Amino acid sequence: MKKLLLSVLLLSALSCTPPAKETTATMKTTDIHSFAQPEEAVIKHLSLDLVVDFTSKTISGTAILDIENKTGGGSIILDSRDLNIKSVKLDAGVDTTFKLDAPVEFLGSKLTIPIKPDTKKVTITYATSPSAAALQWLAPSQTAGGKLPFLFTQSQAILARTWIPLQDSPGIKFTYDATIKCPAELVAVMSAENNPEKSPDGIYHFKMPQPIPSYLMALAVGDIKFHSLGTNCGVYAEPSMLDKSTWEFADLEKMITSAEELYGPYAWGRYDVLVLPPSFPFGGMENPRITFATPTIIAGDRSLVALVAHELAHSWSGNLVTNATWNDFWLNEGFTVYFETRIMEKIYGKDYADMLTLLSLGELKETVHAMGDTSRDTHLFLDLEGRDPDDGVSDIAYEKGRFFLTSIEYAIGRERWDAFINKYFSTYAFKSMDTKSFLEYLEKELIKGDETLRNKINANAWIYGPGLPASCPDIKSTELEKAGKAAADFKSGSDAKSLNTSGWTTHHWVYFLRNLNDSLDNKKMAELDAAFKFTDSGNSEIQCEWYQHAIASKYSVAYPALEKFLMSVGRRKFLKPIYTELAKTPDGLAMAKEIYKKARPGYHAVSYQTIDGILNLKSMN
Ligand code: BES
Ligand code: ZN
Repeated sequence: MKKLLLSVLLLSALSCTPPAKETTATMKTTDIHSFAQPEEAVIKHLSLDLVVDFTSKTISGTAILDIENKTGGGSIILDSRDLNIKSVKLDAGVDTTFKLDAPVEFLGSKLTIPIKPDTKKVTITYATSPSAAALQWLAPSQTAGGKLPFLFTQSQAILARTWIPLQDSPGIKFTYDATIKCPAELVAVMSAENNPEKSPDGIYHFKMPQPIPSYLMALAVGDIKFHSLGTNCGVYAEPSMLDKSTWEFADLEKMITSAEELYGPYAWGRYDVLVLPPSFPFGGMENPRITFATPTIIAGDRSLVALVAHELAHSWSGNLVTNATWNDFWLNEGFTVYFETRIMEKIYGKDYADMLTLLSLGELKETVHAMGDTSRDTHLFLDLEGRDPDDGVSDIAYEKGRFFLTSIEYAIGRERWDAFINKYFSTYAFKSMDTKSFLEYLEKELIKGDETLRNKINANAWIYGPGLPASCPDIKSTELEKAGKAAADFKSGSDAKSLNTSGWTTHHWVYFLRNLNDSLDNKKMAELDAAFKFTDSGNSEIQCEWYQHAIASKYSVAYPALEKFLMSVGRRKFLKPIYTELAKTPDGLAMAKEIYKKARPGYHAVSYQTIDGILNLKSMN
């Protein structure tokens, strides 16, 4: 319900901009969200030597860039935002001058470093700012343990430049190594080869031998322990969360095997999941070798593990074959949702996968409706010119993307489609992909001049056209029909207690709640609450749906629990619809502002920037 309203608002504001410039397959795609000029000089390897200081809330040290000066030109251009650049050296030489331009909104400052035709290394000594948008410095009270601080990074989409000076564009890939020094009582992990042993002196060494784009640079430092979940995978979490997390992710190894059976070998060595404190602004982030995840998926019944299948699937779609620019974001997320669903189907069966898919289709239709079905922002190929790539994070890339791919599967059959995807991943492994090249590949490998098939697939309508084409699959879910029927019965007067809810999963409950009337009287709300204990549910998905009903129905019994939820959870997907619902009435808005004043300091920048917008507050930093 009202799920993606904010992105809708953000996106529709600019829906009448002209179409983006198109690039040809031979021309390099230009990334409008980076100052880098990779055709001239480009990063090949990054070597970090950094100290993490919780007192000053800064990371400082050196970044050594191994570069290739392709044209023998006189400079290399990097992205930076809010960095304090102290010095720059070329090769083994002395300090050199550099030019840091005035910051541009969300893009930060262009950093120009003069180089020689044969320059191989650029060493930058720098420190981050305490307000670096990628970093969240957590007080001990924001952790499960409550005793030690915690730091985590979130680099996607263009926040890597707030903690490392680099070429922050998804079309540029490099390998890296890092030495991180943190307080000796804490453990550091990175999107790289990790050693789960605690170091006695707080110094950790990392190596990422496969080339990755900058948005996959990641670091977390905290009271973190490891538990193995099989030969090649495991889970990291704060000690008090470790047993629960181990239990929740028991199927992790099965997920990896299933993914490999579908689309080829896992390319990254180990696959681990790090369960973060609840202020993590996303559900999950596919940092290579170590997915970062919200603790709100630890539901105690394994019902929310599709999120792990999603982040794992990114090890192919996104991390291996990467969207060339943020306008091509659907290539990352649409493929990943498609792949995630295939993994879920393989392990838990078609009925289970159909539940997830039908819920998503409902959200997608609502998003398209809210954006307007002629909106430019409902095209798969986005036009984010002049905007923050974060504005492109909506159901369009994820779900319209997935349903486009599902519609191709339906058109040609699974066998052919799976063979195509397999070849696509292996052909473009460790490379990037833009929308136009994808279409050319589709033509070459699949359509092969078959006019009928081309019309059936209708890729242009999906990618360069608005709304949902007629070939959008229709999904039936026998499981969710049960929940839909219960909702209908309740609406037509049946007692809550009399409804048949046995064997229901989180997904049945979410569907049931979404199919009730938006606003119910307090008696009905109390009846539901007495029967199903929604207010005190520990399940974040159910809480999020229920609290929206509570607000719309002014069911104040739930307000203390609602406030507690907003105070402890920083996941934007939940905050967005709840604050949006509150902001609809003057009383609700007053309550929202009251709670937000206390909660905001505990949210990550990604989340508070969005909520500032919903509550019409000027961003305070
Ligand atoms: N890569 C995304 C998260 C992301 C996207 C961060 C764009 C910053 C910019 C991640 O894979 C993701 O999609 N997470 C989802 C969960 C998923 C199951 C839909 C989330 O966080 O809700
Ligand atoms: Zn994703």
